[in-house]
Amino acid sequence: MAPKFTISIVMLLLQSQLLILFKSGAADYIPPAKSDGFGYKTHSINLDSILIEAFYDPLCPDSRDSWPPLKKALHHYGHRVSLLVHLLPLPYHDNAFVASRALHIVNELNTSATYPLLEWFFENQDKFYNAPTRNLSRASIVEEIVKSATEVVGNSHYSSIKNGFNDSNTDLLTRVSFKYAASRGVYGTPFFYVNGFLLPDNGASVDYNAWRKVLDPLVGAKKKGVKNEESLHFFLEMDSSSVLEMYHDNAFVASRALHIVNGLNTSATYPLLEWFFKNQEKFYNAPTRNLSRASIVKEIVKSATEVVGKSHYKSIKNGFNDTNTDLLTRVSFKYAASRGVYGTPFFYVNGFLLPDTGASVNYTAWRKVLDSLVGAKKGV
Ligand SMILES: *[C@@H]1O[C@H](CO)[C@@H](O)[C@H](O)[C@H]1NC(C)=O
Ligand SMILES: *[C@@H]1O[C@H](CO)[C@@H](O)[C@H](O)[C@H]1NC(C)=O
Ligand SMILES: *[C@@H]1O[C@H](CO)[C@@H](O)[C@H](O)[C@H]1NC(C)=O
Ligand SMILES: *[C@@H]1O[C@H](CO)[C@@H](O)[C@H](O)[C@H]1NC(C)=O
Ligand SMILES: *[C@@H]1O[C@H](CO)[C@@H](O)[C@H](O)[C@H]1NC(C)=O
Ligand SMILES: *[C@@H]1O[C@H](CO)[C@@H](O)[C@H](O)[C@H]1NC(C)=O
Ligand SMILES: *[C@@H]1O[C@H](CO)[C@@H](O)[C@H](O)[C@H]1NC(C)=O
Repeated sequence: MAPKFTISIVMLLLQSQLLILFKSGAADYIPPAKSDGFGYKTHSINLDSILIEAFYDPLCPDSRDSWPPLKKALHHYGHRVSLLVHLLPLPYHDNAFVASRALHIVNELNTSATYPLLEWFFENQDKFYNAPTRNLSRASIVEEIVKSATEVVGNSHYSSIKNGFNDSNTDLLTRVSFKYAASRGVYGTPFFYVNGFLLPDNGASVDYNAWRKVLDPLVGAKKKGVKNEESLHFFLEMDSSSVLEMYHDNAFVASRALHIVNGLNTSATYPLLEWFFKNQEKFYNAPTRNLSRASIVKEIVKSATEVVGKSHYKSIKNGFNDTNTDLLTRVSFKYAASRGVYGTPFFYVNGFLLPDTGASVNYTAWRKVLDSLVGAKKGV
């Protein structure tokens, strides 16, 4: 990474909360043309809502047991909470990969049928889990799952589902699910992330009351337009000992200014980011070494005001006296660290780390990465 003052790119990552990571050396279908995950009820995740990501194995009893309380909580909160399910077919659950592939096949045919089929697998795990299928061929298990899925989705879909198992694309989608989970450090099911952070008390033990305890303060904080210390404490305490080197003087203050401005007027966030990029030398290390922190804040408030508009001077200044904006900036830092991001810039595409990441990604390189994915999406 170039020795430059850099703004936390995490800010940008937070704008789309569906980002993940990747191990280099994987096959060439990474990154995939589409982000992994099945949205519950809605086709698009509402970025303003609280996002739960659940990693499930359709044949895992603990996943099954955790679903009814989570579903109840989702119905309680309505549009304020979104769910994205990622599949992690565990290698030690027989047939988990075939069942997961059936879910991808059905999801391609009719997204509304995905969750009914997932629930069907939860209810009928004993048919497919280990002993009962030990003497069956793989082909006959696939046939059995095709028949069952057809019953859930509708008889007219029998051929499409059967053909789905002969389509290498559905195999790839299922592999992507597996790789996505592994890239997030998920090693079992169920695993839950809330707004991008692993639920500390993870696993099957999350009952309805536990969900309420987690989500009530977050929903409350959103309603008031304030993420108070109490509500964020839950995330922050996960990582209270993490003090990575902040080796760019003033990076935290500049990042905080971006959070403050984003809170005042989201449209002004990128202009301010670009302003910082253009004026890094004013704030980077040596030139500010003899300045007090207070005078640096004052300077940044003045500059931000010029970008956002004079009428906002007071709000920006007060923003630096509001613990909420300090917390938001800490969350940005912690979010990055929790994803394994250790420098900037880092780029993720559909949730997978760009292998050749870093300052060297020029326009040509972006076109090379994105053209093939856009082509794949068009159906090429
Ligand atoms: C899709 O699945 C849902 C739920 O199973 C069903 O109600 C709907 O009729 C299906 N739509 C089509 C086009 O098959
Ligand atoms: C599988 O085959 C073995 C040996 O033939 C037999 O002992 C066992 O009961 C069979 N299991 C099932 C579930 O059919
Ligand atoms: C699967 O596809 C191959 C070629 O793509 C074809 O030869 C074969 O008949 C297909 N099998 C089924 C069961 O559709
Ligand atoms: C928000 O910022 C944009 C871009 O700087 C500006 O055009 C717009 O007028 C601002 N809106 C308000 C309400 O200040
Ligand atoms: C900071 O202060 C030291 C000691 O007074 C001085 O040598 C140095 O030139 C100053 N740096 C700047 C950027 O003003
Ligand atoms: C910051 O807030 C404290 C109490 O919340 C207040 O006493 C102080 O005057 C404020 N400072 C500024 C610069 O607004
Ligand atoms: C863009 O980056 C690629 C590889 O990272 C390099 O080979 C190429 O020369 C660069 N192109 C320009 C115009 O800098």
